[in-house]
Amino acid sequence: RGAPGSEFKQVQHTIPMLSLDKVFDAEGLQQFDSRIRKLLAIEEPIEYSCEPKIDGVAVSLLFRDGLLERAATRGDGVVGEDITHNVRTIRSIPLKITSASVPSLFEVRGEIFLPRSGFARVNELAEQSGGKRFVNPRNAAAGTLRQLDPRIAAGRPLQIFCYSLGVVENFELPATLGEIFTLLTDWGFPVNPELSVARGIDACLDYCNELLARRPALDYEIDGAVLKVNRLGLQENLGARSRTPRWAMAF
Ligand code: IVH
Repeated sequence: RGAPGSEFKQVQHTIPMLSLDKVFDAEGLQQFDSRIRKLLAIEEPIEYSCEPKIDGVAVSLLFRDGLLERAATRGDGVVGEDITHNVRTIRSIPLKITSASVPSLFEVRGEIFLPRSGFARVNELAEQSGGKRFVNPRNAAAGTLRQLDPRIAAGRPLQIFCYSLGVVENFELPATLGEIFTLLTDWGFPVNPELSVARGIDACLDYCNELLARRPALDYEIDGAVLKVNRLGLQENLGARSRTPRWAMAF
């Protein structure tokens, strides 16, 4: 997805933007959980952050002194493209953080997407103006973010759900991902209302099944759920392979 093109300035991610391993059934999830408990030598149930896996475009938003300085695509995970001009037009992304104490430099990561409802409208307008229809909301979101003229993005209802922090300077992070979501919300970033912390892999499986059952009712496309070890300290102990963390799994 999205090798860096030539029209946009390239951006090197200080912390690589990783990808996710996938499993397709309950057994795969159980194996994931067993592996984690074995690696950590923990017998008790592990707490996982359970999240929808949004089918959109992964982005990095860099804030310096509370101001949005740069937005970039994930690209190949190491080098992405500068799309600041388009991201500035997304109304739910704060350009300036007004909450009291934010780190002097921090990076928020998340997924930009076009809601289903907005997708139909974008395609109608594209057709009316003699353009081509997009095949799906993800292509429409990606195509919009790759435009040179930000007026195009400004006219389309792009949204974001933020799901992690990247670079953070001079700031003590909380102990869990759940608390990071609270921080992100307090700082004014949209966070998916479907997030939930579940204890033990059976509770995670229930979450996944319930989420997938409600899939048609969501106003955005998902390609499954993501489970992430909730404790950041445990995430650190587990670490990552070259492109995927050991502490997360897509279902
Ligand atoms: S976490 C941990 N959380 O899935 C490293 N990714 O295959 C991965 N995605 O590039 C990022 N929803 O575009 C994460 N709740 C979510 C996500 C999510 C969608 C996408 C993202 C990423 C890809 C990884």
